[in-house]
Amino acid sequence: MNEISLKNQIVQLIEQESQAPRALQQLTELLVKQVDRVQWAGFYFMHAGQQQLHLGPFSGPATEHTVIPYGKGICGQVAASGQPFLVDDVSRQDNYIACSLSTQSEIVVPLYYQQELIGQLDLDSDTAHAFTAEDEQFLTDLLAILAVQYGAALQQLQQEVTGA
Ligand code: SME
Repeated sequence: MNEISLKNQIVQLIEQESQAPRALQQLTELLVKQVDRVQWAGFYFMHAGQQQLHLGPFSGPATEHTVIPYGKGICGQVAASGQPFLVDDVSRQDNYIACSLSTQSEIVVPLYYQQELIGQLDLDSDTAHAFTAEDEQFLTDLLAILAVQYGAALQQLQQEVTGA
């Protein structure tokens, strides 16, 4: 996922799009369109009061799992741990929520703003073992850059998406 052209397109997107909601939407579109092994990409945001995640900007097939309790599925486990979660084969996970039956592997990376866990980026692939430790690092760096670039606008988006 660290293909140079993809990196360049992401840099361009961040430079050109000053609005956080649009930037995150375009980022999910870019990942689905430009990375063959990504079939779904979406941001979930934390609602601490409800202990639930709410789906924000995403690309790919619509999912019925727009709200996920902390602890449930891969996303819910990342909400609880605050750590990235790379799943090579979703069929081997007991605590997994299927958004699409075609999904075979998944990566979820936490989104921090000023040391606070506010959300996460979830990528799904129809291919098993689609994601690597390098992807995890790339996405972690990318989310850190988003937090610096968009700052408090990400928290505002979190509030809009979760209704908090
Ligand atoms: N598979 C995720 C649910 C979100 S969908 O992939 C869009 C999970 O187990 O948390």
